[in-house]
Amino acid sequence: MVEEWANMGRDLHLVLDPRHKTDSLELAVRDMIRDGRLARGTRLPATRGLAHDLGMARNSVAKAYERLVGEGWLEARVGAGTWVASSARTTGRSTLADPTVTGHEPLPRLDLRAGIPDTTEFPRAAWAAAMRRALARVPASALGYGELRGVAELRHALASYLGRVRGVVVDSESVHVAHGAGHAMRLVCRALRARGARRIAVEEYGHLLHREILAASGLDVVPLAVDDAGLAADVLDGSRVDAVLLTPAHQFPTGVALGPQRRAAVVAWARRTGGVIIEDDYDGEFRYDRRAIGALQSLAPDRVVFVGTASKALGPAVGLAWCALPAELVPLVAEQRRLEGSKPDALTQLALAELLERGDYDRAVRSARTRHGARRQHIERLVAERMPSAGIVGMSAGLHCLLELPRGIHEADVTEQADAVGLAFEGLETFRAAGARGAAERKPAMVVGFGAPPPHLFEEAVEQALGAVERASG
Ligand SMILES: Cc1ncc(COP(=O)(O)O)c(C=O)c1O
Repeated sequence: MVEEWANMGRDLHLVLDPRHKTDSLELAVRDMIRDGRLARGTRLPATRGLAHDLGMARNSVAKAYERLVGEGWLEARVGAGTWVASSARTTGRSTLADPTVTGHEPLPRLDLRAGIPDTTEFPRAAWAAAMRRALARVPASALGYGELRGVAELRHALASYLGRVRGVVVDSESVHVAHGAGHAMRLVCRALRARGARRIAVEEYGHLLHREILAASGLDVVPLAVDDAGLAADVLDGSRVDAVLLTPAHQFPTGVALGPQRRAAVVAWARRTGGVIIEDDYDGEFRYDRRAIGALQSLAPDRVVFVGTASKALGPAVGLAWCALPAELVPLVAEQRRLEGSKPDALTQLALAELLERGDYDRAVRSARTRHGARRQHIERLVAERMPSAGIVGMSAGLHCLLELPRGIHEADVTEQADAVGLAFEGLETFRAAGARGAAERKPAMVVGFGAPPPHLFEEAVEQALGAVERASG
């Protein structure tokens, strides 16, 4: 059936399958964005008008719009309407969005990359209320230049939250609020460099961006081996580094926890050498099978920088992370912040403080934990049923797990097969820093970031992932 989209003011034609109108509307709009017939920023007709024109229920049109918003093709604001997203990719490979907007890889339709949370349940109402309350309360004096390390209300709220939830030992004076974990790492590494540090160790497997940030801060980055109990702490001793970046609660992305003896050994190294440990606690609140392991920081608050983020419980768009600093680093980190010329975004910080104080942040964590935990269970079940020769490894935690591949299947082949169906799916090897001291062979594995797909695409993404593994074996 060919319908004319008359109220767009252009001659656009929609081909809708009368039996699956919602699906085919979604498909048609996506295609029109992809091939440029609907340019970025183009406003879409209101759901009521379009439903009338197409002889559909208004709900069905709204559902198609909602899905396209979830996939990033459209943007919507209550009261303002719906339009083609500024990040929608209008030419080139069909499934990908504009890389210049994300600053990362282009966005694929199906995404199982690690580290991306499901943001569809962002607590919009609670955030809006917190913003309103913050604005109503804030004195004019707090709307000025303010403190570089962050507004006092948020630092207080964080010191108490981190103590209660992660066992972090810190007072509000030593909390520094940053714009993301990477930003916090940059500030800390520049501060370390400024006082003479030269070399920093990282785990052999990790976040490439963070290794780049460390290097861009002027430090030599030294990768050290990671095994089933996390960083092989004995290699730290001979590495002549001034600091080490670790993910103790949930090694990224191999998924293991730093064992108790290793924790003690790393702390002993820091005490012996005066070294600094940066603890990246990016998903410490997300443990599904038992209580989360407390922060390493509590063993040595004078040697450990604890870094946390709002990106997983709320969403990266909040743009806030924090660190708990050893007292000696507080002025050095503030000085690096000053040199950046950046100012704290007091209003967003006050809203987050409200969220923390009213328990809304805890509720958001619990909601995100439930949703992500269910996704992980789904994957475990499906793999056990469909692909018993593969295995899910890593702790029941966080937003990703490892899918160890059946014998003879190569990570790159799986990625290629996934790519062919519009699925971003990365192998463990892509996270590895070459030349790690003490490194041993590992079984090939895919990193399954189960937070990234919106709910309606999650099962399809996992199905396609297993399909890619199956095709890679043939
Ligand atoms: C290892 C690791 N650390 C930290 C973060 C959080 O970073 P940010 O606060 O910049 O969003 C992520 C997100 O992907 C991550 O994978």
